[in-house]
Amino acid sequence: MASNEALSARNRSALDEWYTQLVDIEAELRHYRPQFKGKTVFCNCDDPFESNFFKFFAMNFNQLGLRKLSATSYAGSPITGQQLSLFDAAGLQAERPRDVFKVEISEVPDRNDDGAIDLSDVEHLLRHDANVMTPLKGDGDFRSREAIELLEEADVVVTNPPFSLFREFIAQLIDHGKQFLVLGDQNAAKYSSIFPLFVQNKVWFGYENGGTKWFRVPDEYTIKTKERWKIEDGVKYQSMGRVYWYTNLETTRRHQNMVLYKRYSPEEYPTYVNYDGIDVDRASDIPMDYEGHMGVPITFLDRYNPEQFEIVGISTKLAEPMAKYAEPDQYVSAKGNRVGGTGKFFVPIAKDRYRGVYERVVIRRIGGVS
Ligand SMILES: C[S@@+](CC[C@H](N)C(=O)[O-])C[C@H]1O[C@@H](n2cnc3c(N)ncnc32)[C@H](O)[C@@H]1O
Repeated sequence: MASNEALSARNRSALDEWYTQLVDIEAELRHYRPQFKGKTVFCNCDDPFESNFFKFFAMNFNQLGLRKLSATSYAGSPITGQQLSLFDAAGLQAERPRDVFKVEISEVPDRNDDGAIDLSDVEHLLRHDANVMTPLKGDGDFRSREAIELLEEADVVVTNPPFSLFREFIAQLIDHGKQFLVLGDQNAAKYSSIFPLFVQNKVWFGYENGGTKWFRVPDEYTIKTKERWKIEDGVKYQSMGRVYWYTNLETTRRHQNMVLYKRYSPEEYPTYVNYDGIDVDRASDIPMDYEGHMGVPITFLDRYNPEQFEIVGISTKLAEPMAKYAEPDQYVSAKGNRVGGTGKFFVPIAKDRYRGVYERVVIRRIGGVS
């Protein structure tokens, strides 16, 4: 690998170490509890010593009625066994295998007989049941043969996969016909391999997507913006906006109609020059009485109900080249700068002058006008 490539691969994988907080996992998972009954869950980017996904499912194993829980650690993790351990207090960290390993749990007995499963019961299991924690031959990569074997026997994958491998990660789940609930950047919905999955209703967003989530990060992670990092009890956190839950588990949310309150007018909703559709600046402003194609911001996907709207496509693929409609000096970016005329919708702003709009999802209402 050329040194630049090696560096950028290292940077990319370093940026993959964002550890989800238990509170965020609990907030999302509470919506799906009945769907986990009798299921085998696989956390395939989840060192059990560091992942709150493993911790959540181990501690809720009996309550959820899981059949089995598996998790695999990954040799490429730069922080394995050094920081972030969930089990430090009990000294279990010292006993963790030095190699990559998998954990497979088929029951979590209440060892201390307090009527509830807690971390000490999980620790007891990891310490005393020799069948639970076994070394992997490979590196624990989610694409490795050993990980795929675990994937094949799983019903649902729940994790926060490396952002740099999000495309491959989702493709693997789809290829294997698995259910999943995973975190990803909102922008990943625009990827050419991911967006069609939304169109085909094979993927949608979960529930708790708004606002900012805080992730535990390795000590050496730095960021300039002061508001985006904090240290609590010696633990470093960074915040990330736009981190969404991607899933194909059933949600009630995606069957709720958006309440629409605006009516169409040509003044408020300009027609694109290079596509037969109107521009809607905010998803909440979708006019209730327009039957044609409408371009809406990507945030629409978080409120998408396939019984209310059909997704036609995305502006990057649907926009006609502006060269067909205007001279190059007649079209500008949203900020007023000269811009290429492909892959974007443009709206007229003055005579012979057009402004590009940000990426749009094109939708059409289903059923008659209300
Ligand atoms: C975004 S972090 C999330 C960690 C953990 N799932 C959590 O949220 O607590 C992604 C994790 O995947 C690991 N990882 C990176 N590449 C991987 C691969 N190819 N296969 C499996 N795991 C990988 C990283 O080391 C990191 O621990």
